[in-house]
Amino acid sequence: MADPAPSPGFGLYVHWPYCEAICPYCDFNVRRQQTVDPLRWRAAFAADITQAAQSFGPERPPLTSIYFGGGTPALMPPELVAGVIDIARQTFALTDNAEITVEANPTATETDRFQAFRDAGVNRLSLGIQSLRDDALIFLGRRHSGAEATAALTRALAIFPRVTFDMIYARPGQDLADWREELGEALALARDGGHLSLYQLTIESGTPFGKRAQKGEALAADEDLAADLYALTQDMGAAAGLPAYEVSNHARPGEESRHNRVYWRYGPYIGSGPGAHGRLPGPTGRTATEAIRDPGRWLAAVEQHGHGIDSRENLSRRIQAEELLFMGLRLSEGVPAARFHAVTGWTLAEALPEAELMPLIGEGLIDRDSKGLRLTAQGRPLLNAVVAALIDRLPSS
Ligand SMILES: C[S@@+](CC[C@H](N)C(=O)[O-])C[C@H]1O[C@@H](n2cnc3c(N)ncnc32)[C@H](O)[C@@H]1O
Ligand code: SF4
Repeated sequence: MADPAPSPGFGLYVHWPYCEAICPYCDFNVRRQQTVDPLRWRAAFAADITQAAQSFGPERPPLTSIYFGGGTPALMPPELVAGVIDIARQTFALTDNAEITVEANPTATETDRFQAFRDAGVNRLSLGIQSLRDDALIFLGRRHSGAEATAALTRALAIFPRVTFDMIYARPGQDLADWREELGEALALARDGGHLSLYQLTIESGTPFGKRAQKGEALAADEDLAADLYALTQDMGAAAGLPAYEVSNHARPGEESRHNRVYWRYGPYIGSGPGAHGRLPGPTGRTATEAIRDPGRWLAAVEQHGHGIDSRENLSRRIQAEELLFMGLRLSEGVPAARFHAVTGWTLAEALPEAELMPLIGEGLIDRDSKGLRLTAQGRPLLNAVVAALIDRLPSS
């Protein structure tokens, strides 16, 4: 039998849908900030999380992570964050080293609350720096300067045991030399926290950037330059001791995001809050849930029905196999054979026989052995195409 796969863990994702302003590239479920009633939201999260807990039966596993994402969860009143952590602790236990992350922007409203979040039990902060260059921050519609971003990072490092930050590259007009210099600075800043996320700018349809691009404006780097920027990012990250452990995520070994790894290792997670997605245990193995996206409607639904779920689908084994490959191959560790078997009931050799994989192995895009399946360094930039080719070869049921 294959070696046991590392445990995926069990996470709670909490979505906060409000932001001070909406950035022109952003496609997340976000709204302009408004005054909220913390007690009403606390009661709604309590009901929604309690309802989700029913999927786990009487033997509820302890949570290994809680992630407050958004939107801008650092705009949540700290007592609401503390309240949700309490609800999670009362509904499930938390493991001793449970990771509790809040996403924040480097604005004064948010940095002033860092200590209160720490006091509420948050032990990891994820800061949206995006760029260290003021002209790029203006282009991205951000409401902070590079200096404010680095000051917020210094403050976060003094308060939280673990800190990560996000950067966006492959911006229009950015060449290899520009990114080499900016990334060098970012990697030096990430040394203390030991984790950073480096995303290529994606032009999402329906966003202000999407509309400008549709009118012909060149807002994304061309494909060849994007590939070179990605390769440079891999090399410089590894040389700085922060290798990519996932397509866009870099960490000193041991500092990986435990919460995001639940998704990538296809573990169970609850999604609570407007538009949040979840993967819960269910009659076919995994049930996918999706919450109502509009914040007012989500609140009203929870108050009326005790949960904010808009759709619930018991996933077939083929869909679970597709999701497992799509998520797991993002990780440099790949998809362990034991996990593939545990989730789908198929062995990897049954679902994807060697002969079917030969073309991809021959092109140097994937590696396959008794431990599992992973992308090679050459295959990683082609993730979507390789996963699509693998999914095509899966049995139909
Ligand atoms: C939910 S947002 C971050 C939280 C926080 N509100 C902020 O903006 O700093 C998660 C991250 O996704 C990345 N992101 C969002 N839209 C993107 C896009 N269109 N292209 C590339 N990265 C994007 C940004 O780096 C952002 O920090
Ligand atoms: S990038 Fe962050 S601050 Fe900007 S709109 Fe998206 S979630 Fe809000």
